[in-house]
Amino acid sequence: MSAPNKSYDPVEVEALKPEEIERMRDEALAAFAAAGDLDALHEAKIAHTGPTSPLALANREIGALPPHAKAEAGKRVGQARGAVNKSLAARQAELEAERDARVLVEEAVDVTLPYDRTPSGARHPLTTLSERIEDIFVAMGYEVAEGPEVETEWLNFDALNIAADHPARGEHDTFFVKGAEGTGGEGGESGSGVVLRTHTSPVQVRSMLDREPPLYVICPGRVYRTDDLDATHTPVFHQVELLAVDEGLTMADLKGTLDHMVRALFGGEGMKTRLRPNFFPFTEPSAEMDMVCYVCRGESVGNPDRPCRTCSSEGWIELGGCGMVNPKVLTACGVDPEKYSGFAFGFGIERMLMFRHNVEDMRDMVEGDVRFTRPFGMEI
Ligand code: DAH
Repeated sequence: MSAPNKSYDPVEVEALKPEEIERMRDEALAAFAAAGDLDALHEAKIAHTGPTSPLALANREIGALPPHAKAEAGKRVGQARGAVNKSLAARQAELEAERDARVLVEEAVDVTLPYDRTPSGARHPLTTLSERIEDIFVAMGYEVAEGPEVETEWLNFDALNIAADHPARGEHDTFFVKGAEGTGGEGGESGSGVVLRTHTSPVQVRSMLDREPPLYVICPGRVYRTDDLDATHTPVFHQVELLAVDEGLTMADLKGTLDHMVRALFGGEGMKTRLRPNFFPFTEPSAEMDMVCYVCRGESVGNPDRPCRTCSSEGWIELGGCGMVNPKVLTACGVDPEKYSGFAFGFGIERMLMFRHNVEDMRDMVEGDVRFTRPFGMEI
């Protein structure tokens, strides 16, 4: 066996000559610079740093060198490969940044474009608000109850302690329904004994007649009064009625329930209600319920620098009526007033929508124009 070739000159190995290594490096750098996109760069990467690239092959030649020549050649190849990798990484970063910038422009969404080519309808905000109110109470264990819009006078008035000669009966501008011919109910105001319900309170009566206490119901629905349609009146509108009948209910329960409702509807800090004495035949005691103005939260009161248009700087907004169910009503509905007490409230949903969404004209709510309903969105 011959002795190792001590006099072997690495310069003689073609691939390891300094100018060869330089050429390989420069070719690699030029190829990276010429790569116009990430795919081209990937190809250049394989060609100039892959296992069959000239520099990788040159690297392999080092093993065959005599020991004293290895260090010098290794350094040369190592430096060239280092420079190639650095250049590759820099070009990679550059091309990625270019691609990201291009994608941002090409895939940008123009949010001002019409979102839908096929016009779709929209749910009426009165429906969604009504459902939202229901949800608040359903979450507390209430049931949703409904009643007919064509109602008997007895349920709409008498059972609610509004007798035929009661002044409150005249205050309700009632639509009377004409009876069918030959039934004897065709003439006169109350001849048929049937009306379009003037409020949702008869559903209270129906609920008590149908079920046994404890009773927790929320009754949204359409009601009718002989008003002309204008900015603040409509002959057909909506109310929500609430009735709770149980042992030991007090006005404190009513107050807590109302406070919870306005907090859930108007959100957060400082929302609460207050009760002012009033009269309703079906509740005793009765009250008018106000809620803190949801815009100024009461801060406009006595503060001329911060006037509030919504509540005329009064700090409160009237919502509707409420009270403890009159024992006479409980009795008329077969509920023992000695054992049970109840609270109730009722308010108009249109009014609530006007507050909550700054709707200024009630006519917008009844005209059915989708340009009114659509901005409220598709709440399901
Ligand atoms: N039904 C009354 C109305 O339409 C509103 C109302 C007042 C309902 C007091 C109630 C109540 O349940 O307790 O004017």
